[in-house]
Amino acid sequence: YILLMGPPGAGKGTQAERLIEKYGIPQISTGDMFRAAVKEQTPLGLEAKKYMDNGQLVPDAVTVGIVKERLAKGDCKKGFILDGFPRTTSQAVSLDAILRDLGIKLDGVINIAVPDEELIKRTTGRQICRSCGATYHVTFKPSKVKNVCDKCGGELYQRDDDKVETVKKRLSVYAAQTKPLIDYYKNSNLYIEIDGKHIIAHKICFFRYALSSRKSFVFRKPFFATNIFPYFENTMHGKTELPQ
Ligand code: AP5
Repeated sequence: YILLMGPPGAGKGTQAERLIEKYGIPQISTGDMFRAAVKEQTPLGLEAKKYMDNGQLVPDAVTVGIVKERLAKGDCKKGFILDGFPRTTSQAVSLDAILRDLGIKLDGVINIAVPDEELIKRTTGRQICRSCGATYHVTFKPSKVKNVCDKCGGELYQRDDDKVETVKKRLSVYAAQTKPLIDYYKNSNLYIEIDGKHIIAHKICFFRYALSSRKSFVFRKPFFATNIFPYFENTMHGKTELPQ
């Protein structure tokens, strides 16, 4: 049971994909759930769109309701990756209550830290496939054929909220409402911070090593995927040395 935190564009969705491959558990992304509702033009989607287009958070009551319903489904019994929830302290308190009711304990809270200038580049250059939802980046992870998905041939598009002005608004909302959550989780023995500026999207699969350990540690030094493994191996064996 993993909680993925981080500012807009930090790479939560990218990392969640890898964790899903490894663990075979669902990714619960409130952003994806809202986007699906917007696409289907359900009442929830119409309500959520008003906030998303302005870079604001959807109200807590709406968000907590859909997460509570989703986590109660059978496929979450084996585990899940929560991506983008909670985003306010009130949501975190609600999540604690939901998990208590379900008899579930989190195994790890991973915060991916990335500087704002990098986040702006990542979000404004992001492209998503209309058909299968695969994520690309015009510079960091371009598709082989421009605007065409490598996996299914679908058309690539830019999210409405990935325009630069909306991204800046999302970053300020993150700083004001979501960043304080770091303190909420920091004192637990579940919190892990990853420097997301230096990790390479295609190669990252090392979170699972961090999650094997319940130890709390802060990871700030930039490492590439190839030399991260000894660090997590050490951590699992109760040591804290960084790899040479
Ligand atoms: P949501 O969809 O959750 O957006 P977000 O948190 O802003 O996160 P993103 O999806 O933008 O980024 P990501 O971290 O997943 O990055 P990704 O892997 O795609 O939420 C959207 C909206 O829904 C919110 O603004 C709000 O209105 C509403 N909402 C959602 N949850 C809510 C909640 N709990 N409460 C209230 N409202 C809520 O990567 C980004 C790009 O960078 C990609 O192009 C990728 O290829 C590239 N990339 C990734 N990693 C790297 C790397 N290491 N190096 C280079 N490029 C990289």
